[in-house]
Formats: sequence, C-alpha cells, structure tokens
Amino acid sequence: MTTPPADLLRAAREAQARAYAPYSHFPVGAALRLEDGHIIQGCNVENASYGLSICAERNAAFAAVAAGATSFSEVLVVGETAGPIAPCGACRQVLLEFTEPDAPVWLVGREGALRTNLRELLPNAFSPRDLTPED
Ligand code: THU
Repeated sequence: MTTPPADLLRAAREAQARAYAPYSHFPVGAALRLEDGHIIQGCNVENASYGLSICAERNAAFAAVAAGATSFSEVLVVGETAGPIAPCGACRQVLLEFTEPDAPVWLVGREGALRTNLRELLPNAFSPRDLTPED
C-alpha cells in the first residue's frame, strides 16, 4: 500500500461523486494524466438496459481520445472496495491501448492504494504492437 498522487486522487474522487450508478450503487471514478499534464476524468454510467453500462476507466479513456489525447502517463481508479479496486478485463485492455505497460496505475479502495501497471494487470496482452510486427 502506498500514497497516490493527490491531484489524480482528487480528480478521480470528484468524478466518482458524479457516477450514475442507480443499479449497482457502486460509484467508481477514474483519472488519467495526459503527456501534457492535463487530467481527464471518468465515472461509471449505468443504464436500465444493464449491459449498456460503461465503467469509469473506459469513459475516461474515450473522453481523453475525444479531447485529442491518445497517450496516458498515469492512471488512477477509485471505488468503494475495502482493498484496492480491480479494473475489469475490458478496461485493462482499453487502457493498454493508450498507456505504456510500465506506466503507474493506482488502484484505490477505502483502506488504501496499490501502485501497479498494465504489465502486471494484463500479462501477455494483445497490444497495438502485435498488429505491426517488425519482422
Ligand atoms: N465498475 C467500474 O466502473 N470500474 C471498475 O473498475 C469496476 C466496475 C463499474 C461498472 C458498474 O457500473 C459497477 O461498477 C458495478 O460493477
């Protein structure tokens, strides 16, 4: 357990407070640091047709792309789990599209935070590099 960057945590908690989660009652916030220092926020948004719901991480990633950014230098996710929240598999794959495997990923719960990265979260992943093999 370690201490995450205060600005990213603040941004993610702010987004978490705006989560639309009337079905799961499990609000999640995400914050992405861009290469230029800007922070992009995301929260989960659920739907009465449950399968259409989207996680905080993917909302943040897609908002970043819509804002013109396709490279994230640091990621933070916060949820109301006891220990560090675990991003779903779909979000791990989407974050890897835009985040170097060794870039810091902070997973925050009620009782502390874990610093990890996408190499650990998604080992042996299929990544954009696999589509353009050098040999
Ligand atoms: N959720 C996220 O937004 N991110 C995670 O890392 C885990 C799960 C959302 C999806 C759904 O709205 C709710 O949390 C319960 O699964």
